[in-house]
Amino acid sequence: QLRIGVMTSGGDAPGMNAAVRAVVRTGISRGCQVFAIYEGYEGMIRGGNLIRPLSWDDVGGILHKGGTVIGTARSTGFRTREGRREAAANLLAHGIDRLVVIGGDGSLTGANLFRQEWPELIQELVAEGRISAAVAARHPFLGIVGIVGSIDNDFSGTDMTIGADTALHRITEAIDAIGSTAASHQRTFVIEVMGRNCGYLALMGAISGGADWVFIPENPPEMEDWQSHICEVLRKGRASGRRDSIVVVAEGARDRQGNPITSQEIKHLLEERLGEDTRVTILGHVQRGGAPSAFDRWMSTLLGHTAVLELISTTPEREPHLIGIRENRVTRVPLMRCVTDSRAVTEAVTAQRYEQAMELRGRSFGE
Ligand code: F6P
Repeated sequence: QLRIGVMTSGGDAPGMNAAVRAVVRTGISRGCQVFAIYEGYEGMIRGGNLIRPLSWDDVGGILHKGGTVIGTARSTGFRTREGRREAAANLLAHGIDRLVVIGGDGSLTGANLFRQEWPELIQELVAEGRISAAVAARHPFLGIVGIVGSIDNDFSGTDMTIGADTALHRITEAIDAIGSTAASHQRTFVIEVMGRNCGYLALMGAISGGADWVFIPENPPEMEDWQSHICEVLRKGRASGRRDSIVVVAEGARDRQGNPITSQEIKHLLEERLGEDTRVTILGHVQRGGAPSAFDRWMSTLLGHTAVLELISTTPEREPHLIGIRENRVTRVPLMRCVTDSRAVTEAVTAQRYEQAMELRGRSFGE
């Protein structure tokens, strides 16, 4: 009987519960035993009751819940070889040698390293007398499958990451809500959204909410004097009768020199140069928590289901894959290719969309 561990790692993302539920139920229906590894890699390192089998009913009533019911963490311990050796010992204590890792870039890179080191780690455990040679021989390889959970949508190999759709809905609702109060007072709002390195949420939020300007990390403003440019665009918008002005800023936005462009800086600029009554709203973790959208529920369910089928149908020594969604179909792509490509691919897609967003913005003012 295969013993599969499932864990969520890194920042939580709405839809993670749906994926965990699908992994558990698919595993059980295919005759496997599925263990939850609580609190991400921290739970794997600490072991004990942080690794527990889950029944069909244990994952009932979680599909619609935000966050992750099995907990998550950003583990520093797993970055060390000692940490990974402890983790291997704890998995073997339960006979687990297959893992579904639901997490972001760092979590999936860590999983791949763990898989590569596994044969050596278990030999070290044998040498230390912590596991028997027979146990080591029964589990010579660690099979892993990755699923990307991150509201930032910052990973290649999948069109959408778990949680991005929900976060985008929340941002769009916030822009709509702010738009109505902004229009009432003829105010300008600078709305800061998450996205440390990736402007997906800011860009798509700006398009969905019809914002006047967007700042993202991937496309720093082209003009040297971008400050004059944005002021001119907002001024024209007002002149054409617009009662509200909305600027969306990704938290990781920067200029061509790599200096951060902050929401406060933009507020001061617009107040000083345009005399606009300007407010800043930082959406923060409201974007990350709360109930997953229908899309995040069904996509995560299909990904979790497929991840288990992948673990069952391939041998653990084979190159690990990422289960994602491309053009509406569930796909499997070599995990490490996705990790290496991620930045370049997402940046290229974003750059194209940025051009479209800016063009539409211009048209709405008859430029
Ligand atoms: O989940 C990704 C992300 O939301 C980033 O956009 C953001 O910078 C970061 O997580 C913040 O995470 P935390 O508050 O958990 O450190």
